[in-house]
Amino acid sequence: MSTIKRKLISFEGGEGSGKSTQIPLLENYLRDRGENVLSLREPGHTYIGEKIRQLLQHDVHASDMFPETELLLYEASRAQLVRERILPALAEGTWVICDRFFDSTTAYQGAARKLPLEDVQWLNHFTVQSCIPVLTFFFDLPPNIGQERAQRRSSRPYDRIENESLNFFQAVREGYRRLATDEARRFITIDAQRDPESIAQIIRKSVHEHFFS
Ligand code: TMP
Repeated sequence: MSTIKRKLISFEGGEGSGKSTQIPLLENYLRDRGENVLSLREPGHTYIGEKIRQLLQHDVHASDMFPETELLLYEASRAQLVRERILPALAEGTWVICDRFFDSTTAYQGAARKLPLEDVQWLNHFTVQSCIPVLTFFFDLPPNIGQERAQRRSSRPYDRIENESLNFFQAVREGYRRLATDEARRFITIDAQRDPESIAQIIRKSVHEHFFS
């Protein structure tokens, strides 16, 4: 697999952190500049990935899933997404925006489920190879605020991961914060309590600096 670094951006953060409000704004910004954009969500966005998403999040018979199984299912969905959608899009010069990518696995299955970090990182690498985002926006938010926001926003019942405890989501946040420190060149941490317009400005400015200047 050739080294592909261009035009791949990921959005990361806990539940209710505001990623999904900002992604369409960035899409519009890029489209207004005449760019082609593909927005993808993990897990899912391929036939195989959507089946895996259903199993991971909504299947009532999957509540006793082991952390190792969960880890491998997220990686399986991603392996398909990278090869079926992301690499072909990047190869034709399309921008790819991912709502979650392998950093979610480090934060959720590594930091929060407490699977060995070296194993998680090895699997992440095996799955994506050199398909690594140039920029990763981490939406940092205290998990209790994220949960309140997510509750207000949606009338559907919690999925399997959303049902986890506040401690779990605190560990997710700490996992992300460690990543943001360790990978400071790629990560931009955003205070997700700021108003949406100022967050959108920060994102546009970073994208402009990284790609257009
Ligand atoms: P979302 O699309 O609504 O954000 O749901 C995805 C859920 O899956 C979210 O709770 C985070 C979780 N997740 C992981 O635990 N590991 C992963 O690798 C990914 C991509 C998501």
